[in-house]
Amino acid sequence: MSDVTTLEPEILRAVAGAQDEAALEAVRVGALGKSGSVSALLKTLGGMTPDERKEKGPLINGLKDRVTAAIAARREALKGAALDARLNTETVDVTLPVRESPPEIGRIHPVSQVIEELTTIFADMGFSVAEGPDIETDDLNFTKLNFPEGHPAREMHDTFYFNPKPDGSRMLLRTHTSPVQIRTMLAQKPPIRVIIPGRTYRSDSDQTHTPMFHQVEGLVIDKGSHLGHMKWILQEFCRAFFEVDHVNMRFRPSFFPFTEPSLEVDIQCRRDKGEIRFGEGDDWLEILGCGMVHPNVLKNCGLDPDEYQGFAWGMGIDRIAMLKYGIADLRQFFEADVRWLSHYGFRPLDFPTLAGGLSG
Ligand code: DAH
Repeated sequence: MSDVTTLEPEILRAVAGAQDEAALEAVRVGALGKSGSVSALLKTLGGMTPDERKEKGPLINGLKDRVTAAIAARREALKGAALDARLNTETVDVTLPVRESPPEIGRIHPVSQVIEELTTIFADMGFSVAEGPDIETDDLNFTKLNFPEGHPAREMHDTFYFNPKPDGSRMLLRTHTSPVQIRTMLAQKPPIRVIIPGRTYRSDSDQTHTPMFHQVEGLVIDKGSHLGHMKWILQEFCRAFFEVDHVNMRFRPSFFPFTEPSLEVDIQCRRDKGEIRFGEGDDWLEILGCGMVHPNVLKNCGLDPDEYQGFAWGMGIDRIAMLKYGIADLRQFFEADVRWLSHYGFRPLDFPTLAGGLSG
């Protein structure tokens, strides 16, 4: 049975020489497949005499069994080798630091953080949040706030105007959050207790001014609200916001068309090697404007100044963020530099709370 004897070493050599599973499969098909060499031998059994079949049957079946076993063994060996090769390329260096997951890499911008902090503080005092559009009418940004036409206070705002409409009126980018005082008084009846954080715009740019900046306005209207209430609110706010036991504040007379009397507020601080401390020292830093809402403003909103009175304030958010977190240049706030943000930003899941500490 020369075929069986010559075929066997030939096939076994091919099996041993197969370098991967695909090559081995080709050898299997060539031997055991439908028209494979071993299958061809098996087919010859059908045309044999019983005696021939008795002699050659075991030889040919033995060949088939040995080839099948050899292929199975080689397949296992190749699988093992492929796995070893993969594991070699996939080594894990356990000394490497753990990579942070996306929610840990992300950062909250200091302005967003400070808005969260101050809404938390004012919400605790019973204030709700009001909002208005960035694109405002001249009437709400100026006229209803008691800025007469042609009054020099209008010029001080470096306003960005849009092109005039056919009727001559001009829209503008709001220069302060104060128009939302008007919107609030027109929309709801006193008692009113709101804060209004938002974007504001003026044509101005240097280390402490950017054309877009943020303010938070406060407005309280009721029958007996007075400056004493306002001083307490602002003092409590500063203590909570700057996270100190005591802040010295100085209220200076000032002028705003929409308040009478008008005041500016400074907080006492000490500057020390680029660091700033609050509640001590001999420097004063201006942080906000405020006053009693002007009777004309109340009238413009349909409120009777003999029945209602109240106070308002406006504070620069970016300014207090720079103070609290020691950021020297305001322009960096809006440069969208991720290196800056990863240094000055806040972890997204560390929400500011009064109980847990505002700045974490
Ligand atoms: N709107 C003023 C500004 O941007 C700030 C301000 C002053 C707001 C006094 C007030 C206020 O509500 O009472 O300069």
